[in-house]
Amino acid sequence: MNQMLERSKTRRRFLKMLGASPLIAGSSMLGSGLATLLNAAPLEEKHFLGWLESFQQSDDVVSSPDQALDVMDFEPAARKAIPPAHFGYLATGVDDDATVRANREGYSHIQIRSRRLVDVSNIYMSRTIFGTKWSTPIVLSPVSAQKAFHPDGELGVARAAKTKGHLMMLSTVATASIEDAIAARGGPVWQQLYPTNVWEVCRAIVKRAEKAGSPAIVLTVDLHDGSNRETLFRSQAVDTRDCSLCHGNRKSGAARGRAGVVSDTFAGYVARKPMFNGLDVSKVTQLYPLAVDWDFVKRLRDTVTVKFLIKGIVTREDAQLAVEHGVDGLIVSNHGGRAEDTLRPTIESLPEVLDAVAGKVPVIVDGGVRRGTDIFKALALGATAVGIGRPHSWGLGAFGQAGVEAVLEILQRELRTIMRQAGTTSVDKITRDYLSLHLS
Ligand code: FNR
Ligand code: LAC
Repeated sequence: MNQMLERSKTRRRFLKMLGASPLIAGSSMLGSGLATLLNAAPLEEKHFLGWLESFQQSDDVVSSPDQALDVMDFEPAARKAIPPAHFGYLATGVDDDATVRANREGYSHIQIRSRRLVDVSNIYMSRTIFGTKWSTPIVLSPVSAQKAFHPDGELGVARAAKTKGHLMMLSTVATASIEDAIAARGGPVWQQLYPTNVWEVCRAIVKRAEKAGSPAIVLTVDLHDGSNRETLFRSQAVDTRDCSLCHGNRKSGAARGRAGVVSDTFAGYVARKPMFNGLDVSKVTQLYPLAVDWDFVKRLRDTVTVKFLIKGIVTREDAQLAVEHGVDGLIVSNHGGRAEDTLRPTIESLPEVLDAVAGKVPVIVDGGVRRGTDIFKALALGATAVGIGRPHSWGLGAFGQAGVEAVLEILQRELRTIMRQAGTTSVDKITRDYLSLHLS
């Protein structure tokens, strides 16, 4: 009897330890199952363990979008559906991936102060940016090469953005053109800009996007060549497919571009991207050259006739300079931890950027946003809108357009729920008063 008790205690200790593991804690299905087990009678425990075993064998994966409880459930589904090297590209940070984890972790240092006895029968989530009203403050951040995750690619994302009413930004190195993205969105799409080292190419992309009807150009300034994407490199090593079939080159001896993309030449890599169609890319050797500085920003500001934003600002000093250089908006971002390791979470960079900007221009933040409560916290700090990169790409990789729609639906639902719970009836009413801050 004593032996049985001891065994049961040991098992419980083991299960508690499992419950504390980030892998299990990140999965709502496994997490809630474990909680049930910890309170279960021995017989139920036995049943549960059988279930847990078969669950683990099925790799903890949802097989349709409606099975997902939260956006994290799409990650293993995407991992299962996407070839290893492509999933590695989606998941990777740099070095130890510490900034990727920090972005997520940052939100747990902020708690919400809920108000009671507010009539929350009606919740308004719409947000107006540059005069356009979006039905939600959740924005689709630019993600390159989305056809590597699913044939629907960026156009599937654009159609989902249309169905769910979101603002979308298209990457310069997307696998769809701005014209097609705008057509699929049935409305404006912002053009993200990698300037390249060739001014004529940069200018041509800007003018093409403006002509297509893009109301904003977003210059990304946070990613130089040669970021050490070890998670990507490890995943490439286990992918046995012949990359040359799609990347038009040999796997060995090929140049590894800035993002770790295997390519015969860098010009060859960009030439396959629709936004470079018809351009002379023979001299393009970089997407974001080392020499780009505030003089370049000035030149670009004078060239762009639509709204002009900078993405990748994480300090007060740069935010001030950006405003002085006449930008129309900022995106606080560290590229989802894909550029430098051991950065602060973006949610901790946001307050000083907002202080510097002092309400003069809208500020969007992205990085690590996975829950409605994260969105609530960013808005409460003063963000105009909140971007997501990997979550919608997991949805895309797992189930195409339907997966993106499900991700957006879940985040909207979670935001609505926390707005009700906290006693805030519209996004404009979510202020710092609703937060208890413990920022480092
Ligand atoms: C990106 N991101 C990005 N940013 C950008 O300005 N231009 C780009 O082409 C890309 N490409 C890209 C590819 C992939 C696979 C990822 C994951 C990210 C960064 C993106 O816009 C955004 O800043 C981050 O993804 C936000 O962090 P989360 O939501 O992924 O944690
Ligand atoms: C990336 C680029 C292309 O993060 O922005 O891979």
